[in-house]
Amino acid sequence: MISTFDRFGSLASSRMALLRLLVFCTLAACYMAYSPPGPPPPLPPNHPLHPLSCNDSQVLAVADFALQSINRDQKDGYTLSLSRVHDVWEHYQENMGSVYYLTLDVLETGCHVLSKKAPKDCGPRSLHESVYGQCKAMFHINKPNRVLYLLAYNCTLRPVSQKKIHFMCPDCPSPFDVSDPEVLEAATESLAKFNSENPSKQYSLVKVTRAVGQWVVGPSYFVDYLIKESPCTQSQASCSLQPSDSAPVGICHGSVVKAPLKKFVSVTCEFFEPKVPGDVNPDVTQESKKLPSVDKASQKNTAPTNSPSITAPRGSVQRLPDLDAGKLDDSKEKIPKEAFPVQLDLTTNPQGDTLDVSFLYLGPEEKKLEVWPFPRNQPRFPACPGPEGGTNPLILPP
Ligand SMILES: *[C@@H]1O[C@H](CO)[C@@H](O)[C@H](O)[C@H]1NC(C)=O
Ligand SMILES: *[C@@H]1O[C@H](CO)[C@@H](O)[C@H](O)[C@H]1NC(C)=O
Repeated sequence: MISTFDRFGSLASSRMALLRLLVFCTLAACYMAYSPPGPPPPLPPNHPLHPLSCNDSQVLAVADFALQSINRDQKDGYTLSLSRVHDVWEHYQENMGSVYYLTLDVLETGCHVLSKKAPKDCGPRSLHESVYGQCKAMFHINKPNRVLYLLAYNCTLRPVSQKKIHFMCPDCPSPFDVSDPEVLEAATESLAKFNSENPSKQYSLVKVTRAVGQWVVGPSYFVDYLIKESPCTQSQASCSLQPSDSAPVGICHGSVVKAPLKKFVSVTCEFFEPKVPGDVNPDVTQESKKLPSVDKASQKNTAPTNSPSITAPRGSVQRLPDLDAGKLDDSKEKIPKEAFPVQLDLTTNPQGDTLDVSFLYLGPEEKKLEVWPFPRNQPRFPACPGPEGGTNPLILPP
């Protein structure tokens, strides 16, 4: 953790250097120097937020931290990975470090968030099963105080357009509703196979998280579903004493391929890392991990662990339908003005507001951050959006 902080060693100082630079030349001339192509974007006068390059290595590190925090905050869905930084603004505040306003283009990976795997350890999805979108995040970094904290986020995701996929690949599997009876049957049948092969412990279905269907030699279904431990063994045919609140312990990938005379069922299950005993509030624990210098005893005295500011949800991931879904072929309907609407404003006051973040700091004194409305339709740094690293344009937000 300490070494990751060192990557920010020059953030504040480079910010100061930029400020000094601004004293000696006009904004326009500076931007000319930064970016030969394109006209210099004018900055709104007196605005404290400054655009940064989306390809800057420190910006990419901040984007990674923000996305890790977003992934950790999820109880549901699949881990998000970064396709590119779309837009980034920094607000440097004397003695408080910086608040970054990030717009990130993201992709769902194949790992469920409960697996806690890092996006880099998760295989990419096939293009036809892709889900992509955009997140906005406000991330606070105060390097001297070792604070890295996601203040707020919101994301909007959509599946890749099936119309475009079918144009390229008419036989590709298509997504199915997770509550479709055929999908539930495929999950139940594949889990029954898993249970019969591992009779010492039995598992039951929590819910289906993803499903696709395809015609192979007959209708075929491929499903992902969460499982929990079942107190029932095979010999107890009908036992219903299941604790209804038990947490999912793993995720299974099952398939049922129906041939005219035979059904082929397959299943593999992976189990999540068991929770550390006594880890009653993962949110708080994760936040204290971001404050490596904080020793447990002093933290108890100064930061109440039931502080609503820590445990309150800081954002959400919204899932919308495929952009082309429900449109007729000759439809004149155009793509909505904002294909991936994401709202993120901790204030609507055009002059900014203050946010109490004392709970992130050790001392008794009050610590306040200035927050501003999220920059919208403003000229941004010419190197934005950043390089997309080979992501297919079909799964990049416009
Ligand atoms: C996040 O989005 C939801 C609706 O999608 C909105 O109600 C909420 O205010 C947003 N959060 C912030 C901090 O703007
Ligand atoms: C992004 O930065 C890397 C190195 O930092 C550089 O090699 C690459 O050309 C840059 N890409 C763009 C599109 O600016």
